[in-house]
Amino acid sequence: MPGNTAYFGFLEICTPRVGETVVVTSAGGAIGSHVGQIAKIKGCKVIGITGSDEKGKWLVDELGFDHFINYKTTDVDTALTKVAPEGVDCYFDNVGGDLSSIILRHMNAFGRISLCGVISAYNEDIKASTIQRPLISFNLKMEGFVVSRWTDRLNEGIQQNLKWIKEGKLKYRETVYTGFENTFTAFTDLFKGVNIGKAIVKI
Ligand SMILES: NC(=O)c1ccc[n+]([C@@H]2O[C@H](COP(=O)([O-])OP(=O)(O)OC[C@H]3O[C@@H](n4cnc5c(N)ncnc54)[C@H](OP(=O)(O)O)[C@@H]3O)[C@@H](O)[C@H]2O)c1
Repeated sequence: MPGNTAYFGFLEICTPRVGETVVVTSAGGAIGSHVGQIAKIKGCKVIGITGSDEKGKWLVDELGFDHFINYKTTDVDTALTKVAPEGVDCYFDNVGGDLSSIILRHMNAFGRISLCGVISAYNEDIKASTIQRPLISFNLKMEGFVVSRWTDRLNEGIQQNLKWIKEGKLKYRETVYTGFENTFTAFTDLFKGVNIGKAIVKI
């Protein structure tokens, strides 16, 4: 499921082109780490936003991301200006909230934003707020999705991801919790950023 979420949610909505700049949030997570690697396969420059230097180093040293920004210790606005002065063409959004507000201000004209998740604000009230301003000014296209939209193409995503894994172009990690009694901890740890890659409970 995370593999197909990354594959279809990124390629179908962001429609990345060679040489474009891609930003992905929760980049050290299951979907984010996968999206960044697909973006590299497609010839893009990739910046991962994550909450720990350990995850960031994994993204750059092992997965081939061009840069990482630790949003917990770094001013993302300043850092993004430094690593992507050319602006951002594609944004794969796993988190929403203030982090996404900052990234929206760095979008290039006709940029594409894929709305996958909103982990920073799942419990918030829904507000239209001021998001329209950058969307209008930069002629942006923003689209949300649920992966089940591509159920009829399920095998295409699985086969392509498998091929990239076998070719060594796609790597993944799992954070495994053992025992059903640890399910609650595994879930709440997602909100603290404890997991690297996919969080799994082995029963
Ligand atoms: N649209 C769909 O069909 C679909 C399908 C599956 C999942 N999703 C959504 O996609 C997103 C990613 O899923 P996943 O399974 O790959 O999870 P994940 O990214 O592996 O795990 C969650 C990660 O989110 C980050 N995070 C937590 N709170 C945050 C905050 N307030 N601000 C910024 N980052 C925060 C943490 O990493 P840091 O260390 O970076 O903070 C944490 O490790 C989730 O929002 C999930 O609900 C959508």
